[in-house]
Amino acid sequence: MPAVDAYSHGVPRSGRIGGRRLRSDPGTRLPLAPRVPFLRAPASAAGAVAVAEALRNGHLKARGPATARCERLLQDQLSAPTVLMTQSCTAALELSALLLGVVAGDEIIMPSFGFASAANAFVLRGATPVFVDVLPGTLNIDPAEVRAALTARTRAVVVVHYAGTAAPMDELLAIAATAGVAIIEDAAQGIGASYRGRALGSMGALGAISFDATKNLASGSGGALVINDPALASAAETLRDYGTDRARFARGEVEHYRWMQVGSNFAMNELAAAYLAPQLADLAGITQRRQASWNAYQDAFAEPERRGLLRRLTVPESCTPNAHIFGLLLPTAADRDRLLRELAEDGVEATFHYVPLHSAPAGLRYGRAHGTLPHTEASSARLLRLPLWNDMPRADAGHVITSVLRRLESAPVTA
Ligand SMILES: Cc1ncc(COP(=O)(O)O)c(C=O)c1O
Repeated sequence: MPAVDAYSHGVPRSGRIGGRRLRSDPGTRLPLAPRVPFLRAPASAAGAVAVAEALRNGHLKARGPATARCERLLQDQLSAPTVLMTQSCTAALELSALLLGVVAGDEIIMPSFGFASAANAFVLRGATPVFVDVLPGTLNIDPAEVRAALTARTRAVVVVHYAGTAAPMDELLAIAATAGVAIIEDAAQGIGASYRGRALGSMGALGAISFDATKNLASGSGGALVINDPALASAAETLRDYGTDRARFARGEVEHYRWMQVGSNFAMNELAAAYLAPQLADLAGITQRRQASWNAYQDAFAEPERRGLLRRLTVPESCTPNAHIFGLLLPTAADRDRLLRELAEDGVEATFHYVPLHSAPAGLRYGRAHGTLPHTEASSARLLRLPLWNDMPRADAGHVITSVLRRLESAPVTA
């Protein structure tokens, strides 16, 4: 396993990949910056202007005008009745667990191929994550596995839309409706993507979106809770505001605000909202510019896929992804590790992704696996993500493509 932090999105931590030292600066012995980094956080000149303006106007208080603007923009883009800006997607997931009244003994079905936040949110409430396998093409949760994992204790299903490609929502929504359980969409990676014309995050009872530095739109840390079930909207405000009815007080509906129930301070920092709002306003443009690199990769690797040298992640016809991640599946884990190493030698910072949750120390302690999870295990070991960021220069994508193709040719992998 390459010594790269799975969750830092590819920033080498030890100067080693696959057991070999990276090229290093002889003066400092630190690894050299790659020619093509895995990502550059979205930079927004308009966002910087908006932050300066917020500072000038003293708009530092949470739930200010920039937050309201972000919520309006998102409501429009997602066609969702209510959106609350949060400090992170993690916060939105934790808010979801509180909002659904999840308690000890409840079970939450989720993919093992996912991020720790979704599991934590429910474990914090005493619930048990039940990890199920993913579909081998998209790496999204397998509806058949969800159906098989349902028990009388199941309260909700968390659906991760991996890489901004939607999970099969028609099937998942039907299963959840029949079983009487809620769907929470972990659409951390989903801003700007859709499923049969519906925005990711807008289909389950609740959706959680991330605006952290690795996402297509970034506010530093940041997120949003999308509340599609109107019955949950008022309680969500209370939970976001320390468990108080402060929002009703702000609207003049009550004379004082009081502690109503257990909640927390989940609201987004107003400066983060100021930085984010212009990016949200330019969502279509940002997604389109990002798609230029994604499309170049998609075209370049069609031929090696035909020859069995690798597989691109599948994009079902029902999905319009947002070019969040470009992933390749190599035939074996050894092929993946070798290619990662070789790309690093060429100055290309590629990386792997999630290490399965079900077999991680906390997964074993707090959750349980439903059956065996062969696709999760195999895909996690064989997945490689290529550099991709907003406004990535064409020449950088070209260098990545040339390097991958050359390395595939010089050391053909076994199909
Ligand atoms: C699927 C998924 N869920 C949740 C998160 C957590 O998002 P945040 O950093 O905004 O809390 C991430 C972060 O990368 C993620 O990929």
